[in-house]
Amino acid sequence: MQEFLLHESKGPVAIVTLNRPDKLNALNRATLLELQARFAELSRDDAVRAVILTGSGQKAFAAGADIAELASLTPTGARGMSALGQSVMDGIAHCGKPVIAAVNGFALGGGLELALSCHFRYASANARLGLPEVKLGLMPGYAGTQRLPRLVGKGRALEMILSGNPVTAEEALRIGLVNRVVEPEALLPACEEVANAIAARAPVALRHAIEAVERGLDGSLEEGSSLEQALFGLLWSTADMREGCAAFLEKREARFSGR
Ligand code: COA
Repeated sequence: MQEFLLHESKGPVAIVTLNRPDKLNALNRATLLELQARFAELSRDDAVRAVILTGSGQKAFAAGADIAELASLTPTGARGMSALGQSVMDGIAHCGKPVIAAVNGFALGGGLELALSCHFRYASANARLGLPEVKLGLMPGYAGTQRLPRLVGKGRALEMILSGNPVTAEEALRIGLVNRVVEPEALLPACEEVANAIAARAPVALRHAIEAVERGLDGSLEEGSSLEQALFGLLWSTADMREGCAAFLEKREARFSGR
């Protein structure tokens, strides 16, 4: 059942919008399940070459896990919720399509963890990004303790996790948490522009490059490099590799088929 997400396709770019604006797009269990199902579909859809994930309204990308739901969990239930959240985030990170987070306001707690599971982030100037869980006596549970330090380094991640204080969009840009900051009305156009550029590249090459980076960061340099070798070699079995090189040599634009 589709309840808390909006879907739009603009050519090869799919736009997924969290749509619970009255609760600042807080991620309840139903929204997590919908995200899981949606990204599984997107991952199988050959027509989709890039995805933008954003929040509805002017105020929030997502203001976190749904605190009302969290408050009533048992320890076992909380562990299960963490497992569900983590698997949703993993499903996005490994969906095989480039995913860009358009952070259009608050990205707090699970909302920031969701943005972190995307491959990179652009933010509107009014965005505030943070992991405020300790203010509630909690800690991040959707892999924020893992993805944030991998992105901004241990010291900056711990400062955010331990203080619970959000950073401004400008500070997020400075520490590499987001790649670009634009005025709110320019956010989706900026994301669409980069998504369209990415969508014109060879899809199998994109998928393998994402996998090399995502899996590579989880292991040693040696393991990651060995994975890179294998994925690099695999690309020689694609029609797109032959087309890309031929197009360069023939001084024309490449037309990638995804095969
Ligand atoms: N879970 C559940 N509901 C949430 C929510 C969350 N994480 N964040 C916001 N909401 C709800 C509010 O309860 C309120 O609902 P109501 O109108 O039915 O009372 C509505 O969204 C609007 O939020 P409100 O707090 O009134 O907006 P604000 O502009 O005053 O403050 C925030 C915005 C983001 C600073 C504030 O909502 C906030 O601190 N949210 C929680 C952030 C958080 O701790 N996230 C981590 C969760 S683990």
